[in-house]
Amino acid sequence: MGVNKHPVSVILIHWLTFVFFTIGLFFYFYEKHSKFNQQLFYRLEIVIGLSISILTIVRIISKILTANRRPPSIKYFNSTHKKTIKIIYYLIYLFLLFTPLIGLTTYYQLLSLSNDFIGMQPDRFQLDQTLFVIQFGAILFLLSLIIIHIGFVIHYIVKTKDNILKRMFF
Ligand code: HEM
Repeated sequence: MGVNKHPVSVILIHWLTFVFFTIGLFFYFYEKHSKFNQQLFYRLEIVIGLSISILTIVRIISKILTANRRPPSIKYFNSTHKKTIKIIYYLIYLFLLFTPLIGLTTYYQLLSLSNDFIGMQPDRFQLDQTLFVIQFGAILFLLSLIIIHIGFVIHYIVKTKDNILKRMFF
């Protein structure tokens, strides 16, 4: 049934975000183990991260604009199931928006630290470390949310035999 699909813009942005997120994550972890041109990696991560933030803003606007074309919601098992899924979606949106901005701040902090003598002062150094930890935590949290999201989708399909993946494909 064609009407049971999300609007094309939502589908497109959902999978584009997935591709960008996977590439960004690969760069993030690969960069930690590689001594090869770290500046290039940071820049690539920032471009990918900011693209994800922009895609998320477009996605939220597009969801509002296409509200009347949204497919009927899935059949939730109970109110807890519904609430959990909604909270996970809101958290995903929030972290997709803000994690790249934390990354950007960390990068500029790192630049000022390497270019600036005053950057060797312990308080500046500690701030830099703190930002790294916050960024790492945000990325891990977002990754966990996405894994839980995929888990929920698979669990729903197995339990109900309703292939909701079709809702997210053209
Ligand atoms: C970076 C990775 C991903 C992110 C950030 C993400 C995020 C989201 C969000 C926020 C929604 C809410 C619907 C909306 O946008 O309007 C959604 C829906 C959905 N996602 Fe993902 N997703 C990701 C990966 C995946 C993967 C790998 C799958 C495949 C198993 C998947 C399957 C689905 C399906 C089937 C829906 C529609 C559920 C429904 O219609 O109720 N997602 N996703």
